[in-house]
Amino acid sequence: MITRLLKNTPEDLEIAGNLIKNGELVAIPTETVYGLGADAFNEKAVRAIFQAKGRPADNPLIVHIADMNMLEQIAFEIPDIAISLAKKFWAGALTMIFPKRPEIPYVTSGGLETIGVRMPSHPVAKKIIQLAGCPIAAPSANRSGLPSPTTAKHVMDDMNGRISAVLDGGQCQVGVESTVICFDNPETIHILRPGIISLEDLKPFAEHVYIDKAIFQQIDCNTKVASPGMKYKHYSPKAKILPVDSPDFASFADYVKHHAQEGIYCLLFDSDKEITGIPCMHYGDDGITQAHDLFLRFRELDELGAKLVYVRMPKQTGADLSVYNRLMRASGFEVIKI
Ligand code: TXA
Ligand code: MG
Repeated sequence: MITRLLKNTPEDLEIAGNLIKNGELVAIPTETVYGLGADAFNEKAVRAIFQAKGRPADNPLIVHIADMNMLEQIAFEIPDIAISLAKKFWAGALTMIFPKRPEIPYVTSGGLETIGVRMPSHPVAKKIIQLAGCPIAAPSANRSGLPSPTTAKHVMDDMNGRISAVLDGGQCQVGVESTVICFDNPETIHILRPGIISLEDLKPFAEHVYIDKAIFQQIDCNTKVASPGMKYKHYSPKAKILPVDSPDFASFADYVKHHAQEGIYCLLFDSDKEITGIPCMHYGDDGITQAHDLFLRFRELDELGAKLVYVRMPKQTGADLSVYNRLMRASGFEVIKI
């Protein structure tokens, strides 16, 4: 199959919308990461997403909508908190899980009775949903297990020859995937995946807000989890990622110098100095800037042939938790504590 590279022009947006309407797969830019989109109601098209990614069939997809009418078509029992959250954070990087309507096939929901829904703010994503005229099921547009793509080139590197088209909308503004939440009851928000919309941002909206324990510890593959995606190793480049939890830069640099070997690299905060004799990259000083560059750096490190990457550990609060979570998933929860 030839994968077409489409541009952000009215003609190409029309082509992308038509391809999805006709049951084809198109990678589309969103503000978080690129998504691999298909008509959420079309079983055959959605099955092709799982095939193109090499994704386990029990890992459900997020369905992307352009307006609140589309939400009514796919979900029900929407709690009042969700309406308030939608007013505040949609369109944006928040996915909410609701009971699904029967029109959404089980392939899309990974066999579950629930469906994750997000209204993306990226104007290209919004336009393509409108042109396709249906909600779009879209996981991140990477091959399963690799870092999510934040540029059209990343998508091409993973998906060329496997999907009908990629629409190039430039680099994604957020850089990590959306915050995923469900509602344990009408007063409780349960965070299943941290994103740049943080626990602190969600607190004013509910009596109880909490983070799933799988964010902080490795889950055994036989344990029942609230979100199937938690079970799978994720987001990892080919290089081994090793977060180093050190009180300051000096102790980090000292550790790395004593463990230098062939193929090692460091991923540092912007404010850190280079470490003499060791190739270093920077990925920001706070959660928002780190989220923007993290997956980009992962892919660059692979291109450089890095074997082992020592990473300065971010904080575990606010948007920083989203970066902490991606690093822990990439390292399989292995951390060096100094
Ligand atoms: O920002 C994003 O969320 C991107 C863009 C493309 O929208 N999408 C994305 O999709 O990251 P994906 O498939 O790579 O990750 C979706 C995560 C998975 O961990 C999945 O298990 C979880 O959301 N999820 C989806 N539906 C769910 C459901 N009904 N119940 C529990 N977890 C669900
Ligand atoms: Mg993904």
